[in-house]
Amino acid sequence: MAVLKINNMKLKEFIQRRMVIFCLLSSLGGLAFAQTIIPVETAHQVLLLQADRAGDLTTLYFGKKLADAHEYEKIAAVYKNGADVSGLLNSAYTPAGSRNLAEPAIAVTHSDGNKSLDLRYVSHQVKRLDNDVTLLSILLKDPVYSFEVTLYYKSYSQEDVVEQWSSIKHQEKGDVVLDKFASANLYLKAGSYWLRQYHGDWAKEMQPEETELTHGIKTLDSKLGTRANLFEPSVFMVSLDKPAAEDEGSVLYGALEWSGNFKIDLELDPQNNLRIIAGINNYASPYVLKRGEEFVTPAFLYTFSDQGKGEASRKLQSWARNYKILDGKGSRLTLLNNWESTYFDFNEDKLSGLLKNTKKLGVDLFLLDDGWFGNRYPRNDDHAGLGDWQENRKKLPNGIVSLVKEAKNNEVKFGIWIEPEMVNPKSDLYLKHNDWVIKQPKRDEYYFRNQLVLDLANPAVQNFVYKIVDSLLIKNPGLAYVKWDCNAVIYNAYSPYLKNNQSQFYVAYVRGLYQVLERIRAKYPAVPMMLCSGGGGRVDYGALKYFTEYWPSDNTDPLERIFIQWEYSYFYPAIASANHVTDWGKQPLKFRVDVAMMGRLGFDIVVDKLSSSDLLFCQDAVKCYDLIKPVIWQGDQYRLSDPKKDNVAAMLYVDASKSSAIIFNYLVNYRYGTESNLPLRLKGLDPLKKYQLKEINLYPGTTAVAGNNTVYSGDFLMKIGFNPVVNSSRTSVVVLLNEVK
Ligand code: DGJ
Repeated sequence: MAVLKINNMKLKEFIQRRMVIFCLLSSLGGLAFAQTIIPVETAHQVLLLQADRAGDLTTLYFGKKLADAHEYEKIAAVYKNGADVSGLLNSAYTPAGSRNLAEPAIAVTHSDGNKSLDLRYVSHQVKRLDNDVTLLSILLKDPVYSFEVTLYYKSYSQEDVVEQWSSIKHQEKGDVVLDKFASANLYLKAGSYWLRQYHGDWAKEMQPEETELTHGIKTLDSKLGTRANLFEPSVFMVSLDKPAAEDEGSVLYGALEWSGNFKIDLELDPQNNLRIIAGINNYASPYVLKRGEEFVTPAFLYTFSDQGKGEASRKLQSWARNYKILDGKGSRLTLLNNWESTYFDFNEDKLSGLLKNTKKLGVDLFLLDDGWFGNRYPRNDDHAGLGDWQENRKKLPNGIVSLVKEAKNNEVKFGIWIEPEMVNPKSDLYLKHNDWVIKQPKRDEYYFRNQLVLDLANPAVQNFVYKIVDSLLIKNPGLAYVKWDCNAVIYNAYSPYLKNNQSQFYVAYVRGLYQVLERIRAKYPAVPMMLCSGGGGRVDYGALKYFTEYWPSDNTDPLERIFIQWEYSYFYPAIASANHVTDWGKQPLKFRVDVAMMGRLGFDIVVDKLSSSDLLFCQDAVKCYDLIKPVIWQGDQYRLSDPKKDNVAAMLYVDASKSSAIIFNYLVNYRYGTESNLPLRLKGLDPLKKYQLKEINLYPGTTAVAGNNTVYSGDFLMKIGFNPVVNSSRTSVVVLLNEVK
């Protein structure tokens, strides 16, 4: 009782002090009331926060920006949602265990065992980092415990993107346990909410589902540890009032920048508002936070558009190229990969032929995939060798060095595959460093693709993984590309290194991975690296900071890829999408090459088996791609015809000056007589400009049908449209538009 009295008094004192600050801040801001309004603005969107008289930091509004900032204060009064008995439903970072009755953003166990947390506004700071980027930080403190949270909002004005994260600290006498520690807590107001989420599996990435959210909590999460997106990625969309269309409707995109377990709760509250709480998954992960230690959550990023999904995707793609993906504004290497043409069965002779074929094809680089390492346990299939990163002496008696040299002689570059986080029980590494392996000490081992995951929580393992890359690059300074794979999830999670601190494991693993990648990038800032995880099992912006591209899926059937790449394109730019021409699928070679061109083009076929016209087509296609790739990589992407709704899929890329554009068109329905009946209305062009249309990337011996060098105005093309003449004998058509003056 006595404690309670003191606490209440402290709380009163605390609130009184805060009120003075509010009045002061308000008068400084020229506002006529005693609350602090904090708008997080970008060019077109606003997140409107308010610190009220009691010090609660709440969200008043999120959505389209108002023309007159003075009208923000009128927003609250026009919503009549009934009484919020906790007063915290719209908390900007909901604490658990005090008045709150809803899903918390943060839950803790204080050093005295108490589980209540209250967070009150103390101050905020705005730093303009450059013309585009602003960083807002808001300090919140518990009035009773020596516990604080700083909320960060990094806003990118032109791109309308916000990255939000939090930093958590305390000065309590003992350790505090963070039971939940979200990155962000959003609050949306609308008549209804439509969630577009994704599910998948190997070769089935990015399968969309769209549903109206009902009351209660819908959770998107992963507990897989590594390869975290295998069944479900953290990217999602929420449309307000009705499902957003491509060019119409209000929609929020969200994604967590974290390559491990995540949890996104979408809670439709009793007042019909949507609370979104996103962060690292707290599953099996109560985090022990020492006095003075800072826990920084990964960023949750979001963008909003009231012009539909297309605009939101262009903003996100442009943000990713400008700020996130490594070398997002740079170039990429076209390549020939040997995975599907040889699998594990190759030797120096075979590779020497493939290097010649790389040159013959006209691509920039040869990528040697899995199978080049392991001696006592040779990597001749996926049962052995992972962990032993020495060249297999039988297959490669002269080592990688000689292959890099030979690549140079053939005037192509050389790249290599690694899977450095993993170990096969059949390996020297496993025998030597059993204590580096994630597995339960008292249970049987359980394998995913015959392998186990190394304990990246352990600094010695981090060093080992770093050295795999470092040694390859030291020994082979000419090595021009790395494919980093990650094929297993974590079973039997247990870190031998963390001993009694197992609840730190999942977080420590991802931090360990990032530490390795930081080190690699500090020494090798420019080497292109592909982020692969048995397909798209790890595509996220936490990792893409270190990688130049990602592998969307092992499913390279071009018909399937149209759908998979389509959905990825909402969140990631084409420059980062590694697309290879393979023998998957029944489509003709031209179809396969056209689909692979919609990103970073590569091949994984047996060049020697190509007919002379197929080879000629591929060679010309590479030359054609070299001309158009700047528009694909850096242009704005417009979805013209949706493969899920229409018989034809069509995607348009337009350069920044609106003087060049490329349209990719495909038949996706093979019923009798299906064709492109209607013209496709183009988008993103300049109505006043004139464009000449030309069908490109034609198969030898075929003639252009679409465009035929006709000149149209941008106005015509956007109002009436253009027919690519897609039908069962022309299943894939690429058309180039160039401005004529
Ligand atoms: C899975 C990847 O997705 C494939 O591209 C290939 O690299 C294999 N691993 C090799 O084991």
